Amino acid sequence: MRRSFESLVAEAMAAPAEGWDFSWLDGRATEERTSWGYQRLMSQRLAMVSAALDIHTGGGEVLAGVEKFPPTMAATESWPPNAALATKRLHPLGVVVVATRDEPPLPFADESFDLVTSRHPITVWWTEIARLLRPGGTYLAQHPGPATVSELLTQVIGPQPRLWSQLEPAAQRAQAQAAGLKIVDMRMERLRAEFFDIGAVVYFLRKVIWTVPDFTAAPYYERLRVLHERIEADGRFVTHPTRVLVEARKPAAEQT
Ligand SMILES: C[S@@+](CC[C@H](N)C(=O)[O-])C[C@H]1O[C@@H](n2cnc3c(N)ncnc32)[C@H](O)[C@@H]1O
Repeated sequence: MRRSFESLVAEAMAAPAEGWDFSWLDGRATEERTSWGYQRLMSQRLAMVSAALDIHTGGGEVLAGVEKFPPTMAATESWPPNAALATKRLHPLGVVVVATRDEPPLPFADESFDLVTSRHPITVWWTEIARLLRPGGTYLAQHPGPATVSELLTQVIGPQPRLWSQLEPAAQRAQAQAAGLKIVDMRMERLRAEFFDIGAVVYFLRKVIWTVPDFTAAPYYERLRVLHERIEADGRFVTHPTRVLVEARKPAAEQT
């Protein structure tokens, strides 16, 4: 039996949204993965350093999947429900989780880390990352890209041209350079995502918080209903997340 718009939306609004575990969407939405495999790349880099920090670790799911941690491994998280989840998941693995404020400074001394990582940060604090890296250290990250899920956002919330232009690779490169970091690798991919019911869309919008902070369905009810009818008619809604892989280096100290 077909479920009503109201019940699908209510269920998705009531589902827990902590962590970055998308298994709630199994069978209801799909998302293509990047070809570079961020978690594998991160794992390789972590095995080569002695001190590393993962910023905006979320529930710690991605970090928990790496094979070998460096002798010093720290992670920060600013949203209390996720800080609690990450602590539970990562402390048994020897990773210290530090609950921080949303903004810098992070509670670490200058030049504390060989490697700083971050996947899908809400805001990238480039100057703070540069401060925390040792000379010669690396920032490895996967950021949201320009016009990410633009078809979906245009339908539900409206176009976000200002946010999208800030996420252009050229803009991200300029921000890194302004903080004194040198981009050594930057790649962008446009992926395919499909949603099979409106509940999956609502759940996704609650999780993708850089787009609509504290998203709730009520202000967008009528637009969501139009999208629901479209999904019912077509069987799915297709949109395209974009991702930018960033590898930036802090220049090594000058030899004297
Ligand atoms: C998009 S998450 C990515 C987390 C992690 N790096 C990953 O890739 O799974 C980025 C940040 O948003 C925070 N966040 C997620 N949902 C939030 C919410 N409803 N309110 C405030 N912050 C939230 C997370 O805790 C995390 O620090």
